[in-house]
Amino acid sequence: MKVLVVGKGGREHALAWKLAQSPEVRRLWAAPGSPGMAQVAECLPGFRVDLDLVERPRLEGEIDRLAGFSAEMGIDLTVVGPDAALAAGFVDRFAASGLLAFGPTEAAARIESSKSFSKGLMASIGVPTAAHRSFTASADASAYIRSRGAPIVVKASGLAAGKGAVVCATEEEAVEAVTDIVDRRRFGDSGAEVVVEDFMEGEEASLFAICDGKGYVNLVPAQDHKPIGEGDTGPNTGGMGAYAPAPVLTPPMVDRVSREIIEPVLAEMRRRGTPYRGALYCGLMITAEGPKVVEFNSRFGDPEAQVVLPLLRSDLAVLLAAAARGDLSAAGPVELDAERAAACVIMASAGYPGQYETGQPISGLESLAGSEDILPFHAGTAVEDGALVTAGGRVLAMTALADDLPAAVASAYQSVGEVSFEGAYYRRDIGHRALRRLADRQGSAGAGPAGR
Ligand code: GLY
Repeated sequence: MKVLVVGKGGREHALAWKLAQSPEVRRLWAAPGSPGMAQVAECLPGFRVDLDLVERPRLEGEIDRLAGFSAEMGIDLTVVGPDAALAAGFVDRFAASGLLAFGPTEAAARIESSKSFSKGLMASIGVPTAAHRSFTASADASAYIRSRGAPIVVKASGLAAGKGAVVCATEEEAVEAVTDIVDRRRFGDSGAEVVVEDFMEGEEASLFAICDGKGYVNLVPAQDHKPIGEGDTGPNTGGMGAYAPAPVLTPPMVDRVSREIIEPVLAEMRRRGTPYRGALYCGLMITAEGPKVVEFNSRFGDPEAQVVLPLLRSDLAVLLAAAARGDLSAAGPVELDAERAAACVIMASAGYPGQYETGQPISGLESLAGSEDILPFHAGTAVEDGALVTAGGRVLAMTALADDLPAAVASAYQSVGEVSFEGAYYRRDIGHRALRRLADRQGSAGAGPAGR
């Protein structure tokens, strides 16, 4: 198989790393790719298919140019990482050129690109989620906030790089968030519509289902850490770290999510004539009443992919090709690595998720080469004058595999200690909920000292 990965972040590096292990993959490209992806794929920096949706006409042009290249090279499967490319109709445009791409069509990708659509979908079939209303006028949204009280959540309806949800402790904060999103257009036209929803108490987790339009298979459940600060404080980022498996998503809870959430959503998308093929990212809140949907995304999570993909034993290329063709059964049974755990710590540029500088030299990665269980995925790096430098807010996704979660977390932090760049920031508490949960379980079983 000739395979192409679209994107340049840590998630796409993890996808390329896993696809490169497939004996079926003869040749692998990445567009535009990154210095990390260049270790396993041929990069195509001339194709800017990583643009935001605000640049939609240019993005569509880049997708069509890439389709031309893919047809010429005889690429058998394209795996799309970023949400914006999917929302711009990547899969439809490739299909129009007779090319197979893994991901939902533009219509099905609305499950992420319009929170208003996705909340309406859930309401229509009774999928558990927070009560909500959608608004285009900030005055109406503010009146609704006053009628519901706080805490309350305000979300830009469109794509906002993972930063469009604001959890508000007071009504004033929520009204300010609405003004910021709708009137000041903090997230551009993604905030033309705003969703106001009830605050949910519980623990968040992410479950990815690989879907073929009818059926699905779940990967190992994960948890990410969206806020910038330790103890889950401060503004949301794209994700500051992740780990898998997430003990909060026990096997019976995963069964419930499958029955109460994934299956009805897939059936409804099919009934509406927009069957869902691709990775369905279920962002969940595990509440006292059971699992509820925080959000759906139309692609793998970042940095969750960095911990979930190393725990997939099956051949990713075979699995994604089967799903994209609409017949998961062709991939055979999917095997997950139930014996190991993975943790990922994001090293970010100083100032992220606000303003940050790029171009800082990165050192120390060479010392990690050769270890199969340490995976320094590149999230935002570039090569300048022959040297590796920072090129994004999230710079490196330092990932480690081990026999259990405490060991994986310890090993990820050890690898962080080997690498440096000016102003590097990382959270020191990745995995804190799971480590506490595991320690509590051990404590109550009288099985020795607690973990961290
Ligand atoms: N980690 C959050 C996301 O990928 O949207």
